[in-house]
Amino acid sequence: MTTVLVTGGSGALGQHIVTGLRGNGHDVRVLSRRASAGTHVGDLTTGEGVREAAAGADLIVHAASDFRRFGKPDLAQTRNLLAESKGVRQLLYVSIVGIDRIPFRYYRNKLACEDLITESDVPHTILRATQFHDLIGAVLRGVERLPVSPLPLDFRFQPVATEDVAARVVELIDGEPVGHAADFGGPEVLTLGQLAEAWRERRGGPRRVVRLPMTGKVACAFRAGDNTCPNHADGTRTWAQYVADVPDRVYRLRG
Ligand SMILES: NC(=O)c1ccc[n+]([C@@H]2O[C@H](COP(=O)([O-])OP(=O)(O)OC[C@H]3O[C@@H](n4cnc5c(N)ncnc54)[C@H](OP(=O)(O)O)[C@@H]3O)[C@@H](O)[C@H]2O)c1
Repeated sequence: MTTVLVTGGSGALGQHIVTGLRGNGHDVRVLSRRASAGTHVGDLTTGEGVREAAAGADLIVHAASDFRRFGKPDLAQTRNLLAESKGVRQLLYVSIVGIDRIPFRYYRNKLACEDLITESDVPHTILRATQFHDLIGAVLRGVERLPVSPLPLDFRFQPVATEDVAARVVELIDGEPVGHAADFGGPEVLTLGQLAEAWRERRGGPRRVVRLPMTGKVACAFRAGDNTCPNHADGTRTWAQYVADVPDRVYRLRG
């Protein structure tokens, strides 16, 4: 039996990765700061408990991230994990499409994490995915009761289901390390205006949206769709399907 350590296994994506790996018969360890949320308690930022969680693991999926301070803690997290990854057959890191094109601070820190991994001697695969349905859903849920919702309606997204990304992660971790894997995106590219309209039709809000004028390189990049990968529209679950069945649970915007 293969032992796989999943960091972030208690998160929006990670929980589906854990389910998929267990379904394939793997022995799965989940590292979490909370005793009730995983099999191993630890903190990647301080390094506490990471050695115990990684000891003897054959494979590692690194899906943890801390959005606070725009993901600055992710650098220490990745360094601490790499230090305990000697001898693993493969470490898979979950990253984000377009982080090398969009000068958003969180993305710069994700890119620096990718660099730490590619410069290490740990066999690895980096999988970049587009924004999750849950993330866009959390933004729209946050404004759906406002009388007027100012939104950057012309930003483009290619939202993807966490279940679809998790299935790709499970497929990749069972194969050979490939360095940079092909990007993974949802089935369609839509503007935030289109996404908000589908949300309103289903949930009755946001009732009135107005275009929030945003300037700067980050806004230009999202407007141009630099965060999308239309040539890799591999996810199958559409935004309409997600919205039709949107969970009541609020996805915490924590990165
Ligand atoms: N959200 C998106 O749209 C999107 C798109 C593409 C790629 N990604 C990437 O996909 C990955 C997963 O994102 P997500 O949205 O599923 O994340 P999430 O739901 O916010 O979960 C974050 C996870 O990181 C863990 N974590 C954070 N700090 C930790 C620490 N110091 N020690 C141990 N664990 C820690 C949390 O575990 P505990 O709280 O249980 O300790 C939690 O399981 C991230 O790398 C993210 O950058 C996200």
